[in-house]
Amino acid sequence: MTKPQASETVATAADGNKSSYEKWVEGEGIPVIRTFFVEDIRHVKLEGWERKGGNGAFLQMEGAGQVNNCYICEIAPGKSLKPQRQLFEETIYIISGRGATTVWNHEQRKQTFEWQAGSLFSPPLNTWHQLFNGSGSEPARYLAVTTAPTMINLLHNLDFIFHNDFAFADRFDARQNYFNGEGTLYAGDLKGFKFIGNVWETNFVPDARSFKLLDYNERGAGGSNIKFELSENTTACHISEFPVGTYKKAHRHGAGAHVIILGGEGYSLIWPDGAPIKKYEWHEGSMVVPPENWWHQHFNAGAKPARYLALRAFGSKKYQGVRPRYQGAVDRKKGGAQIEYADEEPVVRQWFEEALTRLGLQSQMAKHYETIA
Ligand SMILES: [Fe+2]
Repeated sequence: MTKPQASETVATAADGNKSSYEKWVEGEGIPVIRTFFVEDIRHVKLEGWERKGGNGAFLQMEGAGQVNNCYICEIAPGKSLKPQRQLFEETIYIISGRGATTVWNHEQRKQTFEWQAGSLFSPPLNTWHQLFNGSGSEPARYLAVTTAPTMINLLHNLDFIFHNDFAFADRFDARQNYFNGEGTLYAGDLKGFKFIGNVWETNFVPDARSFKLLDYNERGAGGSNIKFELSENTTACHISEFPVGTYKKAHRHGAGAHVIILGGEGYSLIWPDGAPIKKYEWHEGSMVVPPENWWHQHFNAGAKPARYLALRAFGSKKYQGVRPRYQGAVDRKKGGAQIEYADEEPVVRQWFEEALTRLGLQSQMAKHYETIA
């Protein structure tokens, strides 16, 4: 390894009250929003961020549990961010605007790909990467979910995290088609990996809002989904969509699932075991991060399909073992972490019927209730 190019001056040793990661966040000097529900990521107020050379804010979601984190960054019209590299995984979703990213391990082998609102990608671990705004008149805004908390708390050495020259050739081989959007669909048990249906391995998703999904009924009510494996990451993400007049089954799992509404209108019920159920209404641009082991359930209460993107903590099907597997699509009566329709509280159906009635919509749940009964 070569000598670090610069030295981080912010100490990150934990002080007994704050973790190394929390101390790093404070030192970045941008707004920190602490909640588990953001009504609209398109309008979160940002401030100048020296590290990036743009404007930013941390969304330090209570439901992330310092497993992963989230930030929003905006590139001014006609500008670019500073080149970055870091020893944690980062998945980027483009909220608005258009532009390009250049990725490299070696100066002579740079490659550039273009993106637009809705694009999804991940600069491979510890590669240099730089984001450019492709418009001279509009800002470009993105949201990123990263494993920074896990890595900074574990290593508590910012030089190693941000100024490490190791090139992960197994993650990024600099082939020229790396980010061209091609991929492989996996279902079942292939290549010795236990894939569980609807897995699309790729390094670039042009538009998550319109990406074609595949049937997925385990989580209820005629839903469809696709799970992504990006850039040989141990983290994972997926898109889920559910039809008009339906809702998904309640379930719970570990911390760090950042659920971003890509389209449609509705609400989520979120509650810790034994506590009152609370309702959070959402629309395109809303984000919810259910705290660890809290029950949560998503309802389509609008006139078109509801679609979300979930950027999660670890959970790759290809690289397992980082986090314990949860059974979020298995009946809790069978040891899983999902509440079947037949077992839900009466108020759940009552609120849904009331929401649809107000909008003049019909519930499509009867056949799904019967299937389970
Ligand atoms: Fe969930």
